[in-house]
Amino acid sequence: MLENVRIAEATPADLPQVLAVERAAFGGDDEAELVERLLDDPSAQPSLSLLAWVEDEAVGHILFTAASIDGPPRPVSVAILAPLAVVPDAQRQGVGGRLIEHGLSIMASRGVELLFLAGHPEYYPRHGFVPASPLGFAPPFPMPPEHEDAWMVRALRDDAIGSVQGRVVCADALNDPDCWRE
Ligand SMILES: CC(C)(COP(=O)(O)OP(=O)(O)OC[C@H]1O[C@@H](n2cnc3c(N)ncnc32)[C@H](O)[C@@H]1OP(=O)(O)O)[C@@H](O)C(=O)NCCC(=O)NCCS
Repeated sequence: MLENVRIAEATPADLPQVLAVERAAFGGDDEAELVERLLDDPSAQPSLSLLAWVEDEAVGHILFTAASIDGPPRPVSVAILAPLAVVPDAQRQGVGGRLIEHGLSIMASRGVELLFLAGHPEYYPRHGFVPASPLGFAPPFPMPPEHEDAWMVRALRDDAIGSVQGRVVCADALNDPDCWRE
């Protein structure tokens, strides 16, 4: 485990660090460009952007953006977690887990009831995420059948699952089938 990890909300002045973490973690520009578009996207607000720091070096980043459910029987506050990035040198030392837990507690305090993501099915269940399709939540775009388990949900309010169902509608910047291929 990495010691002395500090997690803080990213400010606009931190954008270069946010983008550098995304590029290093994913080894390309796609996720960095997606983050930039999401931070600029009114339909993605309110968002939550957190950086993990070790001293003055940013080693991890997580972004939560606003979403909605198509036609629920009652109003429900939902968000999408994407992307999560930890720089290669800091991976597998608890940084990603701490960013998730810190983010979940802020989102719960803001009244968000359901959090969705498309990600590694072996990683997120340890943070309480479960496959979302069997619970009646369709992703913004159909996922390939072999990746269906990657579409996951975590309830931040006890009775949130079971009381609503429907297709999740994401922010405009995520509303692209290429973002949902795996
Ligand atoms: C996936 C990622 C965010 C995990 O963050 P992290 O800080 O490395 O992970 P943590 O230290 O919190 O958790 C480590 C555990 O997760 C597991 N894990 C890490 N990356 C994993 C992956 N890609 N798939 C499955 N399990 C993974 C490890 O096996 C480890 O388990 P162990 O403790 O039993 O050995 C990070 O590795 C990363 O940024 N990867 C590249 C970008 C990426 O794939 N982002 C996620 C998109 S969904």
